[in-house]
Amino acid sequence: MIADRKDDHVRLAAEQQRRSGAHNQFDDVSFVHHALAGIDRSDVSLATRFGGIAWPVPLFVNAMTGGSAKTGAVNRELAIAARETGVPIATGSMSAYFADPSVADTFAVMRRENPDGFVMANVNANASVENARRAVDLLQADALQIHVNAVQETVMPEGDRSFSGWAPRIGEIASGVDVPVIVKEVGFGLSRETVALLRDLGVRAADVAGRGGTDFARIENDRRLNDRSENGGPENGGRERADYSYLNGWGQSAAACLLDAAGVGVPMLASGGVRHPLDVARGLALGASAAGVSGRFLTTVLDGGAAALVARITAWLDQLAALMTALGARTPADLARCDVLVRGELRAFCADRGVD
Ligand code: FNR
Repeated sequence: MIADRKDDHVRLAAEQQRRSGAHNQFDDVSFVHHALAGIDRSDVSLATRFGGIAWPVPLFVNAMTGGSAKTGAVNRELAIAARETGVPIATGSMSAYFADPSVADTFAVMRRENPDGFVMANVNANASVENARRAVDLLQADALQIHVNAVQETVMPEGDRSFSGWAPRIGEIASGVDVPVIVKEVGFGLSRETVALLRDLGVRAADVAGRGGTDFARIENDRRLNDRSENGGPENGGRERADYSYLNGWGQSAAACLLDAAGVGVPMLASGGVRHPLDVARGLALGASAAGVSGRFLTTVLDGGAAALVARITAWLDQLAALMTALGARTPADLARCDVLVRGELRAFCADRGVD
């Protein structure tokens, strides 16, 4: 059951990625061009530090999968690409491992193929402290991601309906594991208020995982509509089939979240809808310490395996360094000092939220 769901997520996320339109709210962010701002490429370092964590590059492969034979194979390719390029990487949710330890290797492969890399385990905000520790142990993880995904759970027929325990549990896990804890959304964004709460719970960094890329409301709606046995229609006692398609597109974009939560005092990571190196630079310019990519790298690996992803990540890092050279940013943190313009819907969001 969980294994089927994991396979569905990969298939539907890839279909969505291939269909996705070109525009998202990163396009409302542009750098002011200063023609003489450039520096030398040799002056640029991609290394980034945040919350006591040091990464060689400000780009990471964000949480996706594991828990079935097919997704274990995907994890292996992702891990090889991370090893070859040095980018940090996260596994998908490890709930499947807690439910059935026989799938352990579909996650553990990420450490086996990438023994020296920065690897993040991933659990949901219901996980016991004991299971959070098991997840970290299985991967010898360098950090633990906790995902918060109330909208996804709501659309999932088999999803959680109790969310009040999440915040206290995040605090317990943050103080109960030996590695830094990063809390992330799954594509709906984190508000300023949420990030402030995470700060008070002892979380080391907040990964906004905003709207504009993979849309888990849409994915779960597609799964619901394909599953004739769940929730409705004549086969369910004549009750109307539950349809949450009005939630497609819910949430705040990564750019909106970064602007909203700037100044809360928690290191931020930019993810959700990152399409190319310019989006990475935009995320860093809005104050993020690094940018995470899921959907865009998933299709790369499905189409061309680890080799294609190595080529893509290498090209992205090379282009990011080139953009920083032209913009006069010696480090990722320097990008946050570049002049940027905010336009369109993103500007309206900032006005509504009182962000200057
Ligand atoms: C995800 N994502 C995710 N996140 C998480 O914390 N745990 C998980 O198990 C998963 N599973 C998952 C499966 C697949 C197939 C995809 C594509 C994504 C969410 C992911 O980490 C990220 O937050 C969103 O996908 C938004 O980023 P992109 O895809 O727009 O770059």
